[in-house]
Amino acid sequence: MVRIDVVCVASWNADLVSQVPRPIARGETLLASRFEISPGGKGSNAAVAAARQGARVALIARVGGDDFGRMALDLWHAEGLDTRHVEQAEGERSGVAQIHVYDDGDNSISVFPGAGAGLAARHALAAREALASCRVVMASCEVPLQATLEAFRIARAGDALTVLNPAPACELPDELLALVDVLTPNESELRALAGVAADAPIDAAAQSLLARGAKAVLVTLGAVGCTLHRAGEPPHSLPGRRMTVVDTIGAGDTFTGALAAALARGAPLPEAMRWANAAAALSVTGRGAIGGMPSRTQVEALLAD
Ligand code: RIB
Repeated sequence: MVRIDVVCVASWNADLVSQVPRPIARGETLLASRFEISPGGKGSNAAVAAARQGARVALIARVGGDDFGRMALDLWHAEGLDTRHVEQAEGERSGVAQIHVYDDGDNSISVFPGAGAGLAARHALAAREALASCRVVMASCEVPLQATLEAFRIARAGDALTVLNPAPACELPDELLALVDVLTPNESELRALAGVAADAPIDAAAQSLLARGAKAVLVTLGAVGCTLHRAGEPPHSLPGRRMTVVDTIGAGDTFTGALAAALARGAPLPEAMRWANAAAALSVTGRGAIGGMPSRTQVEALLAD
């Protein structure tokens, strides 16, 4: 059997993307200038990003028995992902995300998780062999925490590193945080998780999550770059890169997936972070969550630049 590098406890959404000039006010209707349906879901996006970096990736996921579920499987097969632990739930709807992209490239998203909400500890247990023998297990907060908790327990009992993208921001039990090797929040998720004010210093918020058990907190800062926090070490920052932004959908997922792929091939965390930072920068130059996701060669070229 081919060895799996990265296992992703994954959400899947069909992204219904409308381009509008600016955020819509309550009670307002705006005309969109563009609409498309494209692949999404924070887990699926990160898994595709890792696979494009050369990692062999397996998914633990649940999709509906509808057209959007078939769209997921077609994508995953085309990207070379291992789908043996994907459950297709007949009679259920697949996850859907409604996304408004603004003219400045920023966006707002609402997610209906659909069949993904049924992902549970039993799905992780069924994938025990892959989880125990891979190098990195990753997840986001778009899937039920019980599934992630079980997957991370199995990963820790084996030899795998765990990476959690805490998006969308949610309550994280200390039991789960204690199983996280690398947490990858953006600034607002970091502050929400730490329970501090919106203008509280990033460093203090990151330290509070380290104190609760996470081994490293790697904060993504959009165009500004990212900062790594580890207990007993000064923060380590990388600057962002100036790119022509088409849209920023999936930039955080690309960061997490590229990070996992680099860790899986043995890169130390600061080097994996450099890789992830460059991959995320490239991802905003294409349309939709996976349109701009780079190959390993593209990241190498940017890093050499
Ligand atoms: O992070 C971007 C993703 O968030 C989109 O693809 C959407 O599906 C939501 O999950």
